[in-house]
Amino acid sequence: MKIIEVNRDEIDSIKTLWESLNAHHLAKSTHFKSHFSEFTFEKRMAALNKRDRLIVYVAEYKNENIGYCIASVDGLIGEIDSLFIKTEYRSQGVGEELMILALQWLEKQNCETIRVSIAEGNENALNFYRRFGFMERLVVMQRTHNQEMHPIGTKTVMG
Ligand SMILES: CC(C)(COP(=O)(O)OP(=O)(O)OC[C@H]1O[C@@H](n2cnc3c(N)ncnc32)[C@H](O)[C@@H]1OP(=O)(O)O)[C@@H](O)C(=O)NCCC(=O)NCCS
Repeated sequence: MKIIEVNRDEIDSIKTLWESLNAHHLAKSTHFKSHFSEFTFEKRMAALNKRDRLIVYVAEYKNENIGYCIASVDGLIGEIDSLFIKTEYRSQGVGEELMILALQWLEKQNCETIRVSIAEGNENALNFYRRFGFMERLVVMQRTHNQEMHPIGTKTVMG
């Protein structure tokens, strides 16, 4: 297994892996499935391309891409944006190797803070990130415009 750095103009080489990550999030999500079903690689990359600096590491084994990690910096904030290892290659330290490289790169970028966001339903990944010193800082709650919801201010009167 080897890890290579991929330029922004070759980023399409991780499209299939990113789509597997999106399918993973779709399967795990309870409340935001429509977000993942409507999400595309192109939308994600357009958002990432707005960051000041970006790095993509790809893990290769026998000429196959088996995992990747994207990290970026915007101002003083660094982020682990996306991390995925193909199912059959998990639990062999590939994710850890990618994280170490991404964190080494982020540390050289003079970030004040390094963040990672975990999607609702994918909380199992928390333990993985805790190993690298990340701790829960915020829980972001979100309401979607087409979501079925309780009318604002309605109280249930108990009889
Ligand atoms: C999270 C992920 C990148 C870790 O990669 P990996 O190569 O399996 O990680 P490592 O082999 O370096 O470390 C594995 C250890 O991390 C922890 N871990 C990793 N993924 C975990 C998960 N989904 N649930 C619970 N623990 C997990 C476990 O302690 C595991 O040890 P174990 O295999 O002995 O149980 C990989 O599981 C993955 O691609 N998961 C699906 C996509 C995903 O959730 N990505 C993160 C998005 S925020």
